[in-house]
Parts: sequence; C-alpha cells; structure tokens
Amino acid sequence: MQEIIKQLEERRARAQMGGGRKRIDKQHDKGKLTARERLELLLDEESFEEWDMFVEHRCHDFGMADHTIPGDGVVTGSGTINGRLVFVFSQDFTVFGGSLSEAHAEKIAKIMDQAIQVGAPVIGLNDSGGARIQEGVSSLAGYAEVFQRNVEASGVIPQISLVMGPCAGGAVYSPAMTDFIFMVKDTSYMFVTGPDVVKTVTHEEVDQEALGGAVTHASKSGIAQAAFEDDLHALLQTRRLMDFLPASNRSAPPRRPTPDPLSRQEPSLDTLVPASPNKPYDMKELIHKVVDEQDFFEVAPDFASNIITGFARIDGRSIGVVANQPMVLAGCLDIDSSRKAARFVRFCDSFNIPILTFVDVPGFLPGTAQEHGGIIQHGAKLLYAFCEATVPKVTVIARKAYGGAYDVMSSKHLRGDVNYAWPSAEIAVMGPKGAVEIIFREDIGDEEKIAQRTEEYRQKFANPFVAGQKGYIDDVIMPHNTRARVGRSLAMLQDKRLENPPKKHGNIPL
Ligand code: HXC
Repeated sequence: MQEIIKQLEERRARAQMGGGRKRIDKQHDKGKLTARERLELLLDEESFEEWDMFVEHRCHDFGMADHTIPGDGVVTGSGTINGRLVFVFSQDFTVFGGSLSEAHAEKIAKIMDQAIQVGAPVIGLNDSGGARIQEGVSSLAGYAEVFQRNVEASGVIPQISLVMGPCAGGAVYSPAMTDFIFMVKDTSYMFVTGPDVVKTVTHEEVDQEALGGAVTHASKSGIAQAAFEDDLHALLQTRRLMDFLPASNRSAPPRRPTPDPLSRQEPSLDTLVPASPNKPYDMKELIHKVVDEQDFFEVAPDFASNIITGFARIDGRSIGVVANQPMVLAGCLDIDSSRKAARFVRFCDSFNIPILTFVDVPGFLPGTAQEHGGIIQHGAKLLYAFCEATVPKVTVIARKAYGGAYDVMSSKHLRGDVNYAWPSAEIAVMGPKGAVEIIFREDIGDEEKIAQRTEEYRQKFANPFVAGQKGYIDDVIMPHNTRARVGRSLAMLQDKRLENPPKKHGNIPL
C-alpha cells in the first residue's frame, strides 16, 4: 500500500511537471503561462478537480513507445468560477507541443460529454502544434470526435475558446464552432495554412501575426471576439464573461443583487441625441447609463464597430445588448455588422438571455463592395436571427430607424415584445432628402422647392408618431426614464413563453 501511494505521488509530480523545467522556462520566456498556471487563474482557488492525469498515448511509432508523459499534453477536469461549475481543458505546450493525440482527444471528449450531461459550460484553453504528427490518422480521428461534440454541445452549454498559443490547420475548427474565441496578443495565432504555405501557393509574404494573430482576428476577420494583452487578462475577462451566462440552456441566467436602483433617472440622456440628424453621438454612453452599474461586457469591440454587442444586467438580470453605433459608418448595417450581431442574437436566444436593442440606423451600407460581397444574404442573417428569437425582446429607437434596417432591428413586426421610441426617433422608409428626391424627381434643381418638400416629409415622417399611431411603437418615452421603462418591461417579460413551430431546424442563410 505504502509503495502504491509513493508511486501515486511520483506519478502526480511527473504529470505536474509536464514537459519538464526546461520547456516550462521556454514557455515563460515567450510570455506564456503553463497549462496548469492558467487553470489556477481561471478557476476559483482549490476548486479544480482533475481527471485523467495518468492517461498516456498509445503510439509505438517513431520511438514514441519510450516517450510518454502522464496527461499526454492536456489537463482536463472541472472547477468553479465564482462558485459556478465549469468544465475545462488546457493544452500543455510543454508536452509534445500540446499536440493532439488520440488519447489527448479522448480526454477532451470525456469532459465535453460530462458537461453536456450535467449542463455546465466548457472552457477550452488552446495552445497546440496541432495533430500529433507521429499518430497520423488517429489524431485526425481525435479532432473529429471533438468537432462532433462541439456541434452537439452548441446551444446546450456555452463553449468558450481561449487561444493562447498556436492553433493551426484543421485544429482551428474546434474553436471556430464554439460560442466565443478570445486570443492573446503577440503569443497566439490561428490560421488554416501558415505563412510558408501561403507563400508557396499565392506568393504572398506575410508573417504569423498579420496572417492570423490576435489583433488580426479581433479586428479584421471577426473570428475572435477579443484580443487581450496577456494570458492573465484573457483569463480574468473570461471569468467576468461567465458571470453573465447561464450554465446551460436548461437553467436561467444568473441574477445578482445590485445597489443600482431600477428607477434611476439619467437627465443627461435627454441631450444625448444632437439636434442635427447628421451629427453622431456615442451609443456606448446610452448603454452605460442604462445598465446596472455601467457594467457592460462588450463582445467583439474591435470588429464591425458600427454595431455594438455585449452583455450587461438590468435589475441584476443578464441581458444581451445590440445597438447601432452612429460614430462608425453612421451606424449603417453592412456585411460584417450583420454577421456579428446575428451570431450574438442567436447566442442570446439559445441561452434564454433577453435582448435589449438600441436603434439608430440610417439603413444598409450602399455600394458594389457590399452587394458583391453578399449583403443580401448576410443582412438576412441578422433578420433571421431576430425573427427566430423567442427570448424577451425590448427595443428602444433613439433616432433613425429607416427602411429595411428598421424592420431588421428587432421591430414590433419581428415579435418585438416592447418597442419604445424616444421623442427624437425618425421612423420612415428612408431619410427625408432621399425620399423627396425620388418622389418629387421633377423638382430636382429647384432648391427651394426641394427644401420645402423635404421639410414637409420630415414633419410628417421624421418622428415617432406615425409608427405610434399604428401601434408599432408601444410608447414614446423620455430618454432620462429609459432604464426604468426597459427594466419594468424586462421584469414583465420574465416568464414569457413563445415557441417556434416544430421543425428539425431552420435553414438560416449561412
Ligand atoms: C508532435 C509536435 C508537434 C506536432 C510541435 N511538436 N508540434 N510534436 N506533433 N504537431 C513538438 C516539437 O517536436 C517540440 O518537441 C515541441 O513540440 C515544441 O515545438 P517547437 O517547434 O520547438 O516550438 P516552436 O518553435 O514554438 O514552434 C511551434 C510550432 C511548431 C510553430 C507549432 O512546433 C510547428 O510548426 N509544429 C508543427 C505544426 C504542424 O504542422 N502540425 C500539424 C498540422 S496539421 P521537443 O521535444 O523538441 O520539445 C493538423 C491537422 C489537424 O493539425 C486536422 C484536424 C482536422
């Protein structure tokens, strides 16, 4: 017995050391933490329950039979974040470069299966050289097992990927199928083919960072929802995100007490919207002033910033916020913003998180780049997402709500539950000037007449009353009162029940 306990301690110590001191030092020299150090920061103190510490690979080729390390390059198990259960895997780059063997994949699959059954999120910390080259197809099979589970878990439990080192080739597709990807600046990259292959095939010269670094994916491709300065920030912000999310689609989002009174009025909001319709203002100010304690977790802040997405709370309850940003492209909807917001709306709907939408949208962005890029299909994604969503939907039109974009932005017609407008709202088919130049084409050239017609159109449509008369707007509210009105609406909608017709699944315009 004593002998077994001694062996156990030795084995544990070996597993804890991963690929050994030299490789750990190398990891630190690159500014990266080890797999275990990361888990210590991510999880509540002493909460980690490790599984499969003694698992080893079963490869006998290329001298691998004599080369085993307990754990086989990934640390897996469960723990808590602020007391709430999560499952985790953390790839250990010090062990065979964190590469994925059959056994390594089995460990990940095991915690995913358990997480789906008990209904708790999976957080994956990726730092890997990809498929374990010595294992060949067994490694590819392992990846596919993980992919299959990513899809089965989608919409059942939140899945978060932190990319904290290399993630290349087919390996990118597991994070790609999770709900959020966070990357770390300068030390992480994701690409399907690396710079060398790119050079051979397309003759482009590009380095890892420009091709698939954190900033590239957080601002250009939109693949990552954030690029953090270092491992520590990425892990702490992941903890913060988890506080907004339910454990699964079977449980309600967490509610936390807030000292911020629901009745809080914000007189400064009454002057937020400038008198001139062409002058921008910062929509984030509105969001911050309405939500609890100004606490807003923005998702994808650096990508398609003409739309804002993120999590907040009102009266302690989690909500998803979608808002046009007049400071960027005048708040137009375009391909990227439609894709970004559609995915966010679908996440909220999957996990029963009510959606609060702030509208100031002059329409869809015109141009050949948009049309040829498929704005029809991408815009339809956002429309589809709002139409499909059955969670409580509260909308506030702050200023412009023009054309198809009015419909898209969680309008009454898409089963918006409560739709408010501020007195500054302008709800119409298009802006007054554009409208007049079409319906009074014969007057073009006569500046005075056009100005008069424009003013007539503005008087008639550039206000919330026409929509209000038809019941498309439930009430015109004073900006300073927005928090209270939205909060009461969300409380009223707490037990809302609405179901889409039974079907296998819809066919969203992907
Ligand atoms: C086995 C690997 C490995 C791999 C790295 N290592 N990648 N072992 N399989 N895929 C080992 C190295 O041999 C080395 O072992 C240790 O990990 C650290 O690697 P280094 O090269 O020293 O580190 P670094 O200089 O930081 O470079 C990291 C790297 C490079 C850029 C990731 O290692 C690399 O290019 N690796 C191969 C990447 C690759 O081609 N993977 C397969 C892609 S195809 P020692 O013992 O010296 O410490 C793929 C398909 C997936 O992934 C398909 C899914 C459908």
